[in-house]
Amino acid sequence: MTIISPSLLACDFLNIEPELNAFAGVKDMWFHLDIMDGHFVPNLTFGHPIIELITKKAPHKCDAHFMVTNPEFHGEILKDSGLYNFTFHVEATPDSLGLIKKLKSHYPSVGISIKPNTPVSALTDEILKAIDLVLVMSVEPGFGGQSFMPSAFDKIKELKSRRESLKAHFQIQVDGGVTDKNSKELIAAGADNLVAGSYVFKTTKDKYAEKIESLR
Ligand code: DX5
Ligand code: ZN
Repeated sequence: MTIISPSLLACDFLNIEPELNAFAGVKDMWFHLDIMDGHFVPNLTFGHPIIELITKKAPHKCDAHFMVTNPEFHGEILKDSGLYNFTFHVEATPDSLGLIKKLKSHYPSVGISIKPNTPVSALTDEILKAIDLVLVMSVEPGFGGQSFMPSAFDKIKELKSRRESLKAHFQIQVDGGVTDKNSKELIAAGADNLVAGSYVFKTTKDKYAEKIESLR
């Protein structure tokens, strides 16, 4: 089953606990947490105390997407936070493989992300064999509510074929501009995990579960 990961960037932050609980009965979903540092991307979101509060209250696994220049620091300091997946950007570190190895000792799942202008070839065979998840950005990271970039399709297909030839096991996750208009095609291309912010949250709480199902 495709995992759907609602991005909390689009939720009502003053009511975070009821927002999280509105997804309690939903199957096959993660919560996606977008951490932006004002350096790697121009925007700022939230930091460690908020991440820890969310992971404690969340009725599902928490998936953190670090859009930061120093993922090494955050990976170390958040090791007991309860995060399930820790994703960093390949563009943010000179030694992705070394970082994956360190993060694997702290988190059940480790992901690596590529921005729209970064080719799949930036991910070496060694990285693809070591990683649990590859996040294909289908918008320029930094803001929710942007339009989906169709160049993500070829990247998903390329990752799927490299996964087969390497006998690797990573999930393919897509993030940015995902709606019910492109989700089926993304799944058919090989996406295993879809992040969606505005599409899921631009409605009332009682409809969140329906919104999630409409993406599969
Ligand atoms: C963008 C973030 C996304 C964003 C998705 O930098 O990584 O997770 O919240 O939001 P939508 O679904 O609104 O494009
Ligand atoms: Zn994200």
